[in-house]
Amino acid sequence: MVENMGSLRRTNMCGNLRSENIGEEVTLMGWVQRERNLGSIIFIDLRDTTGISQVVIDDTVASDIFEKASKIRSEFVIAVRGKIRERQSKNEEIPTGDVEVLVEELKILNVSETPPIYVKDDDNVSDNMRLKYRYLDLRKPSMQNKLKLRAKTGRVIREFLDNNSFVEIETPMLTKPTPEGARDYLVPSRVNPGKFYALPQSPQQMKQLLMVSGMDRYYQITKCFRDEDLRSNRQPEFTQVDIEMSFVDVEDILNINEKLIAHIFKEMKGVDISLPIRRMTYKEAMDKYGVDKPDLRFGYEIVDLTEVLNKSDFKVFSENIGNGGVVKAIKIDGAVENFSSKGIKKLESFVKDYGAKGLVTIKMVDGEFTSGISKFLTEEEIAGIVKTMEAKDGDIIFLVSDKYSVVCNSLGNLRNKIARDLEIIDLDELNLLWITEFPLFEFDEDENRYVAVHHPFTSPMDEDIEFLESDPARVRAKAYDIVMNGDELGGGSIRINNSQLQNQMFKLLGFNEEQTMEQFGHLIEAFKYGTPPHGGIAYGFDRLTMLLCGTENIRDVIAFPKTQAATDLMMEAPTMVSKEQLKELSIDVDLD
Ligand code: AMO
Repeated sequence: MVENMGSLRRTNMCGNLRSENIGEEVTLMGWVQRERNLGSIIFIDLRDTTGISQVVIDDTVASDIFEKASKIRSEFVIAVRGKIRERQSKNEEIPTGDVEVLVEELKILNVSETPPIYVKDDDNVSDNMRLKYRYLDLRKPSMQNKLKLRAKTGRVIREFLDNNSFVEIETPMLTKPTPEGARDYLVPSRVNPGKFYALPQSPQQMKQLLMVSGMDRYYQITKCFRDEDLRSNRQPEFTQVDIEMSFVDVEDILNINEKLIAHIFKEMKGVDISLPIRRMTYKEAMDKYGVDKPDLRFGYEIVDLTEVLNKSDFKVFSENIGNGGVVKAIKIDGAVENFSSKGIKKLESFVKDYGAKGLVTIKMVDGEFTSGISKFLTEEEIAGIVKTMEAKDGDIIFLVSDKYSVVCNSLGNLRNKIARDLEIIDLDELNLLWITEFPLFEFDEDENRYVAVHHPFTSPMDEDIEFLESDPARVRAKAYDIVMNGDELGGGSIRINNSQLQNQMFKLLGFNEEQTMEQFGHLIEAFKYGTPPHGGIAYGFDRLTMLLCGTENIRDVIAFPKTQAATDLMMEAPTMVSKEQLKELSIDVDLD
């Protein structure tokens, strides 16, 4: 049944035929979306990457062509030659709906078994089936559009960076393990038995070395690999737009990147972003929103009630405050009716997942302050809460007391959850924000030592260098993140370009001389030969594309993504390998 194209060549794409083309002879090639055989006439919806055209086979063609057409099924690949004519019953749903092609010549170029998933957006099929048959899933116009949008985003970014003297430079995929937070993916070296490369978690060190090389402005749109717990916006291999610049400080980096972001949104969405983009320090973000990537499309700011309640008879408050903890709350305006006792119980267990031991609810109904803890509060304290929270009738307040980090974590996430549950977020809004002045270190309780919040090459703020030894926790970094609609889109920092300071950093992070030289010897050596002041940023390219496409699932914007368990269901990777292959690599696998 299957034939070659022969001398037939495609003249037009299926999605482009319009009434102006009536009378023209065309040859179309594509996949059969749907076929309807009415006995004496057969209608086929023919699909290619541009859209769908209706083609018609009737008794004006030779009987063998009609016979062939009657065998056509969904997802067959066919070629048709014929004339465009006006369609009798128009289809307003598709751009080609005014016309159809009356077939004169037909070839079946390939057949298809009944596909395991429909090539339709509302197919209701499981995610696993979509991933297993990804090539069929990618036939859907919605999926193809996302890949096209991703490609265009890359072009727009390259255009801006090329025009601003950035040079695109590739860096190795087989490299050395780096301490960037996640676990490395390791690759054994056959010719160096027992030794491993690591796939890069990011090109961080390479781009710094390129600044030492004098390349001045570098960028790369490149794959990064991190073996970490996956979420809806995380993949084990993902793409970064990675940038580094010489002779710059924080302000210069933020300025040029704002222009880049504005260029992307103008070209991709036709949206004018007003510059400068709002800035907020890390401290303010944590105090008011509980997270370092606040979603500012809605309010529900976190309010501190520690002052008001610091003499409270309520033991939980007094003990927590006595131990340096805090009492904080969010107010959901006029929404008291939206929360049933069952709903509130669920919120209570939600905040417990973030470490809180409980959730106090205060309802403002008929001018009354109602709460399970009212009996432990003085009138003055109640009045203090009402005043500080600016609470009015109909409001509901959620309060958590604990150490600062737990209160931030639980109320910050509760704030996001409630806004989503109540559907108050304007999904069309683009809300951009720089977070600046991150802490340089955080204390890792498991390891009982300070670790770098960003990475060990991040420069402290000049005015905080004096506290490096005496009070590391208060040292702020020249580090920044760009946040959009509550999602971290990118982040970067100014790097240390002073060897002495860099060595001091390694020491503070608990690396001894030997470990430092083993891991970073190449950088320390390079920095001895004239290192310019430099800094940079990296954007999550997949995340950027997600935002531009309006999807919340990173898999939608990656052609062949991995599952939550880091597997490729289509290729069935990772897999076992043969004993011979392992032997060649001097690897012994012990699964016990
Ligand atoms: P960072 O680790 O913050 O910085 O990464 C930069 C951006 O990459 C995206 N991202 C991810 N996207 C999808 N899946 C993942 N697993 C994943 N991990 C990170 C995020 C993030 O903001 N070298 C530094 C940058 C620098 O200092 O210049 C770095 O990699 O959007």
